[in-house]
Amino acid sequence: MFFLTTAIDYTNGSPHIGHAYEKVLADVIARYHRLTGEEVYFLTGVDQHGQKVQQTAEKEGVSPEEFVKRTTGKFSRLWTKLGVEYDGWAETTDVRHKACVQSILSNLYTKDQIYRKSYKGHYSVRQEQFLTDRDRDATGNFGPEWGEVTEIEEENYYFKLSEHTDWLKSFLEGPLETILPAFRKTELLNAIDRNTGTDLCISRPKERLRWGIEIPFDANFVTYVWFDALINYISFIGFTPDSSLPVFDDVWTDRPVHIIGKDIMVPAHGIYWFAILHALGFTDEKMPQLLVHGWWNIRGEKMSKSLGNIVDPDQLADTFGTEALRYYLVRDIHTGKDSDFDLDRLVMLYNTELANELGNLCNRALNMSQRFTDGIISPGGPLTADDTNLQQSLIDTTAAYRKAMDNHEISQGLEALNRHVVHCNQYAERMKPWELNKNLQSKDRLATVLHHLAESVAHCAVLLSPILPGAAVKLASQLNLATLSKLKLDDLKWGLIPLHHEINPPTPVFPRIEVKAVEET
Ligand code: MSP
Repeated sequence: MFFLTTAIDYTNGSPHIGHAYEKVLADVIARYHRLTGEEVYFLTGVDQHGQKVQQTAEKEGVSPEEFVKRTTGKFSRLWTKLGVEYDGWAETTDVRHKACVQSILSNLYTKDQIYRKSYKGHYSVRQEQFLTDRDRDATGNFGPEWGEVTEIEEENYYFKLSEHTDWLKSFLEGPLETILPAFRKTELLNAIDRNTGTDLCISRPKERLRWGIEIPFDANFVTYVWFDALINYISFIGFTPDSSLPVFDDVWTDRPVHIIGKDIMVPAHGIYWFAILHALGFTDEKMPQLLVHGWWNIRGEKMSKSLGNIVDPDQLADTFGTEALRYYLVRDIHTGKDSDFDLDRLVMLYNTELANELGNLCNRALNMSQRFTDGIISPGGPLTADDTNLQQSLIDTTAAYRKAMDNHEISQGLEALNRHVVHCNQYAERMKPWELNKNLQSKDRLATVLHHLAESVAHCAVLLSPILPGAAVKLASQLNLATLSKLKLDDLKWGLIPLHHEINPPTPVFPRIEVKAVEET
């Protein structure tokens, strides 16, 4: 089983383009793995506890329960709109999740992995954590990223993180590939060195925070939001520390892939999560892989409420269509790196690569078949070098696409696909089927050329399906080939369209985006 998760989004606000990117990226990867024939389980959801939610709910004069219900709906509705199809939905206020977090806390407490102590220090309200001198900036102060910082002394429960850091270092330095892309590993190893010897505070006194999961062995405390949130990856598939439900063993068969943004690798996923799993007895071979993606910025700057530069994916989907947005989100960024979100580029990439190139190929291939051969795809005559080159281009494209997609490099997968589309359009320009149609003697040649173009459209529809599932369905229907949606990657051999097959008249699948739409946004 290929088990894939994303980070669960904070519900103290509305979904922005960064959230949408992560969900679309995960959806594309999940769909791609289904296309390879693998069984896939895709889990995503929302992070509903914590101080920020409590504070925002208070400000809005509603209960936290009511508040998260409202905001959760904004996320789940958007994912449906963007065609993000998940198998499991995680909400951290769910009773199953709460029971799992509590059973894990009890288990670790019994195993002496959790202890109570008093601590005095600086506390950041915004980040909901105690700070150390290492968090001070060059001027010796706590920077604005920490928000209001106060000095407090309080008793809390601590998880013995420090007992797991030696194992963690050797695990990360060992042969198993755990951090993708690999260049992030050094950053994580450095962070572990800086954190050696510190344990993790996993509770908050109820006087300060009520909106959380109660600590099972002390009703005066709730669980720290990160400890609670990370456990979603196992609670929703039936894990319990004593005897997990069978579904857990069905889903967590190999190493799951957790898709997360670069800001939550250190310390949450790269340190806390691995240490928690290790304390629960997970072996190295069962540890997750972290696929760490970069950020979408706006003109080089971080998106933030205070800068007022937040991009609303819901509105963009209404203006440009969900498939245009999906395409842009995985096309104009290299997985792992940052990119600038730029509406002009969204329009340019859509209009050139989809409307002009792929749209043109589909339209002309299917239209000419309608007009010149009554929509019937027939065998034609002997193949020329142009035809065999086109077939070779398709083989090369499919191999390059697979290599890129196996490495989660969606943009490169699309580049490979687009190379074949350009090849096909150049082939059509050179073969000039409209001229061949004028001459009875070139009827066989015309059939061969139209067959090669239609066959290419069929392959492109399958390769495109993880990224643009809606367009793939439309193309399959225009080709009158319902079977396309059932094909796996290994089935992609020349001859998807049976000879004498009748295709349907085309309607444009990628209508151009008019620049007016951008100006109105
Ligand atoms: N709730 C935590 C995650 C808990 S996972 C056990 C959280 N939530 S978040 O809403 O702040 O972020 C959710 C995901 O969106 C994270 O992976 C984060 O990196 C990602 N992004 C947030 N802003 C982003 C961009 N501007 N660009 C790309 N992704 C970004 O962290």
